[in-house]
Amino acid sequence: MESIAPADIVPTPSTPRTNPELSGAPTGELFDSMLPPRSELYKGSREILREAYVPARLPHRENQIRQVAEVLAPALRGELPSNLLIYGKIGTGKTAVVQQVRLEFLRRVGKERPATFVNVNCGNIDTPYSLLQTIGNSLAEGEAQRVPTGWALDRVQGALQALLDSKPGVCILVLDEIDRLVARSGDGVLYTLSQINTQLEGGRLCLVGISNDLKFTQHLDARVRSRLNEEKILFPPYDAPQLQDILRDRAKEVFRDGVVDAGVIERCAAYAALENGDARRALALLRLAGEIAERERARRIASDHVVKAKSRLELDIIVECVRTLPPHCKVLLYAILQSYERRRSGVLTGEVYEAYCKLCQRLGLQPLHARSISNYLSELETLGLVRAGIVSRGRGGRTREIVVDVPIAETMPALAEDALLAPLARPRGPNQTLLTNFDNPNRSS
Ligand SMILES: Nc1ncnc2c1ncn2[C@@H]1O[C@H](COP(=O)(O)OP(=O)(O)OP(=O)(O)O)[C@@H](O)[C@H]1O
Ligand SMILES: [Mg+2]
Repeated sequence: MESIAPADIVPTPSTPRTNPELSGAPTGELFDSMLPPRSELYKGSREILREAYVPARLPHRENQIRQVAEVLAPALRGELPSNLLIYGKIGTGKTAVVQQVRLEFLRRVGKERPATFVNVNCGNIDTPYSLLQTIGNSLAEGEAQRVPTGWALDRVQGALQALLDSKPGVCILVLDEIDRLVARSGDGVLYTLSQINTQLEGGRLCLVGISNDLKFTQHLDARVRSRLNEEKILFPPYDAPQLQDILRDRAKEVFRDGVVDAGVIERCAAYAALENGDARRALALLRLAGEIAERERARRIASDHVVKAKSRLELDIIVECVRTLPPHCKVLLYAILQSYERRRSGVLTGEVYEAYCKLCQRLGLQPLHARSISNYLSELETLGLVRAGIVSRGRGGRTREIVVDVPIAETMPALAEDALLAPLARPRGPNQTLLTNFDNPNRSS
């Protein structure tokens, strides 16, 4: 007989659920002051401005949608399409276009026209095994066909072939962010996939790779490159007027009529056009501008809110970038910030190396050689976190002076989040916001 856990017993009216000694039953008032009242700005879900939302219309991508569909259409006649590579800078609509084509494709697949369409984002896949396993599991019907973890790679490959053979018609396999897969685990798995048709008995596989690294095929084995490159489609960056059209479509769905001031869409589009025509950036600016306006209880979204959104977004990007630096590079950046904060002006490379060595000592780390630290300094410069200019020191020769381009108050805590640097964390004081180049609106960029 099944036992009943005490927690499963439903309280009778004589067993009160709340302790009468507590000061009053929960009323939900705690959150009242934190949740804004029904918004005067929004009419639709805010999710519409988020990345995961797939809009019904993709303005200025009609040609690319048609081109992708043309390449893949033979699959609906039971014929094997050419493999396809889609290129374009970030936020140019590659993923969105392929998703839209996929939806249309699946609408046309039927019993007389069988075909399969599998989409894998390689951004979060780091081994050939997990790629083959993910593809296999997308094709599996039921638990028995799923590919477990821990098999030998050959066996997973065999299971994938069997699954492909069990599917009638062509299987279109989209490998989104394919360049990241190759950067992490080489092109061996692409070799396997690109020649799998020679091993299949009934199934046929068509590969669609999506990459924002325009040079990524240069690193591929020549055979893999020529197989993947059968067809190629380039997505150009959006210009400002195109970004405005994209934003207007979304704004109409999300915001109430008349709450978006003139110039708001234009400003978001102009900022994003400067950032390589990235639609993701344009949408993020509009979403943040809306959130900031709402938090300020403004009745309209104004251009000022976009300016604030831009700073917030830049800050988020910096903090994210800092979080992913290698450990010694974090210690170096911490040393630079600390020295800069003390001096309140540019710091010389010699001082920075000394400060870095002292920090290493405090953290129980073996300091890296000055040469390696100089390479890390170049990396920080490339990332735009610091700038190092040559200064003449009279008889002392020439040295480099480092100027900080990130807000110290936010960057130091982000660095100290790393367990290795945790001993450096300090309580946040009220006067710690020092003006750096980042905070200075007149900074030269
Ligand atoms: N033409 C468009 N119309 C409407 N929304 C678009 C359009 N192009 C892109 N977007 C939106 O912009 C965001 C970024 O697009 P998407 O993810 O397709 O870019 P991507 O080229 O795949 O970028 P990445 O190379 O970084 O993966 C998504 O939210 C997408 O819905
Ligand atoms: Mg994408």
